[in-house]
Amino acid sequence: MKILAIESSCDDTAAAVVEERKVLSSVLASQTEEHAKYGGVVPEIASRRHSENIVWVTDAALKNAGLTLEDIDAVAVTYAPGLIGALLVGVNFAKGLAKSLNKPLIPVHHLRSHIAANYLTNEGLKPPFLALVVSGGHSHIVHVKDHTDFEVIGKTRDDAVGECFDKTARAMGMPYPGGVYLDKAAESGNPDAFKLPHPKVSGNAFDFSFSGFKTAVINTLHNASQKGVEINVNDMSASIRKAAVDMLLNNLLAASEMLGIKKLVIAGGVSANLLLRREIQALSGKGYEVFMPDLKYCGDNAAMVGAQGYYEYLAGNTADMSLNAVATMPIDNPVF
Ligand code: KG4
Ligand code: ZN
Repeated sequence: MKILAIESSCDDTAAAVVEERKVLSSVLASQTEEHAKYGGVVPEIASRRHSENIVWVTDAALKNAGLTLEDIDAVAVTYAPGLIGALLVGVNFAKGLAKSLNKPLIPVHHLRSHIAANYLTNEGLKPPFLALVVSGGHSHIVHVKDHTDFEVIGKTRDDAVGECFDKTARAMGMPYPGGVYLDKAAESGNPDAFKLPHPKVSGNAFDFSFSGFKTAVINTLHNASQKGVEINVNDMSASIRKAAVDMLLNNLLAASEMLGIKKLVIAGGVSANLLLRREIQALSGKGYEVFMPDLKYCGDNAAMVGAQGYYEYLAGNTADMSLNAVATMPIDNPVF
């Protein structure tokens, strides 16, 4: 079954052709450079660029797969969660395609697709497993019971870890999106140079809180600059990264212990983080089975939408022409 998949939830316009878990093509038009000028994603600019790019990106995905629209069996699209104006471009385009081709339309939840990025390159991976889904907008621990059956075990009460990396990186003068620059700087820094707090939340022990941590870092940076003390950016980056990865893994391992699930998966833009990847990898052979997406499928892309779309289709989760985009939608109980 060949699925044409479309993704436009944030600042990447992407299209891919996926046959079950095999990627036939994957094309992406990134807007990062343009948004970097403003220090973050400007929603209206994102929507306009999606409108300009979506047709050629889709044409390129078909061409790279050596296919035409007539060869496509279904159209999958990210419909939630994300920037509403950005999502609407992809949803409307996918609806037009599905209608004109008279083929099924498959709505895909963005976080489900991030988890499915793991299916593209980890051949044997099957649920059940425990997923740490970490991106610019989300930080979740999810029990993936089946390909379309999810239960949220823990999540952030405030900021996402990606947002925390981006904001602290910005405070150190790094460009947007700062997560990747902070990660690079951290590679040559001392993670023990700064003692940073590891905030815990009351109530659900598997929830995260990154807002107080972010503020503590930003205060340390401001205090130093007011006193004219120079902060070693590599050391600060390494300390931030170590503390954040510790918080993520502590909760993931506690959830693993509680549920007795030893198969662990990471997903989302922050799963590209070099320390997180090394620490997860280090668990393999210590009683855990670990999986992570290929670096090219960690950030937003349409191939992962096609992979999850396949399982949504098998579960009968198709939509009619009234499908709408939704800005906020839980992973475990989506409505379309
Ligand atoms: O999944 P994604 O591309 O978009 C959302 O759905 O949010 O994630 C983007 C996030 C940004 O916050 C970015 O800084 C972060 O992923 N990110 C990283 C790295 N690469 C991207 N964070 C830490 N280390 C990285 N290497
Ligand atoms: Zn994403």
